[in-house]
Amino acid sequence: MPTEAEKMIKAHELLKQFYHHILVNTNKGQEAFEYLHKRNFTREMIDYFQIGYCLDEWDASLKFLKAKGFDEHLLEKAGLIIRGERNNNYFDRFRGRIIFPISDYKGNTVAFSGRILGEGQPKYLNSPESPIFQKSKTLYNFHNARAAIRKKQAVVLFEGFADCIAAFGAGVENGIGTMGTALTDEHIHLIKRNTDNVILCFDADTAGQTATLKAGEMLAGAGCDVRVAIIPDGKDPDEYIIKNGPELFKNEVISGSITFMSFKMRFFRTGKNLDNEGDRLDYIEKVLEEISKLDNPIERDIYLRQLADEFSLSIDALKQQQRKIYYSIR
Ligand code: GTP
Ligand code: MN
Ligand code: MN
Ligand code: MN
Ligand code: MN
Repeated sequence: MPTEAEKMIKAHELLKQFYHHILVNTNKGQEAFEYLHKRNFTREMIDYFQIGYCLDEWDASLKFLKAKGFDEHLLEKAGLIIRGERNNNYFDRFRGRIIFPISDYKGNTVAFSGRILGEGQPKYLNSPESPIFQKSKTLYNFHNARAAIRKKQAVVLFEGFADCIAAFGAGVENGIGTMGTALTDEHIHLIKRNTDNVILCFDADTAGQTATLKAGEMLAGAGCDVRVAIIPDGKDPDEYIIKNGPELFKNEVISGSITFMSFKMRFFRTGKNLDNEGDRLDYIEKVLEEISKLDNPIERDIYLRQLADEFSLSIDALKQQQRKIYYSIR
């Protein structure tokens, strides 16, 4: 007898194929296919990520799975269907949405994320937490990317599914994504079993940059070597690739990633006018605080020198101040 979890996974596997079939082979999937096509998702990408479409009908998924012997309680618990409050009827969760299947680290399909076609709220609808799906342990595309992550000894971490898929289309095969949540210790544990080298490639907006700082601190604290890929013009990776092409994305953005410390120095400058003495002193103090957190004396020296050069300060004065900060924060 299969366990409850095994049945839930089976339901997801069957639905994944059903949704994919509707997207790529049927008239009812055509609008969604065209939407993806307009966004530069090729047929190859659609097949590789097993992207699908859930019909805009009340219970097509439910009927499909019921015909295969699944019971409603199990499907509700797995988050695939919802029970209406008024008439107690069950209906499909992802009606009329493009479906991104989500796997656990073993490759079992355990959840879906559904994107609305075009504008609207919520933009993405995720499966709820269930016995087989915990967001805090799930990284999008991790199972597929694992071999490339190990081979390259590096992982690229994105904010979104779209970015992960677009990057794959551009030849970046070691990309994974969080589920729209903050990075957790469990995520980091999964990553570290495969590599210590993490390139953060989040959106260039304020939210993305703030998330980069937070994720970077956690990863660095766990002993990872963190680099940051900078996307120009406030774009996200997907938009950048569409505008500038795969070569520039690989060779400039990913290969040109900067150290986490350099990222922090950039980040602390945003909104500051370094020609203003007060802003300048604030900035220098903030950078010295970061330098104090570095364990490697050579690294400390490199950034102290950089700071000294940039602001025409004596290295001795900076070192003195840095030590003072060091003792005040430890
Ligand atoms: P596209 O607009 O399709 O290119 O997606 P995006 O990845 O650029 O979206 P965005 O930068 O706005 O958000 C990043 C990630 O946050 C997404 O990939 C989702 O995981 C998550 N997210 C965004 N909007 C929603 C939402 O409305 N609900 C939920 N649950 N998650 C969301
Ligand atoms: Mn196919
Ligand atoms: Mn964003
Ligand atoms: Mn985005
Ligand atoms: Mn996007």
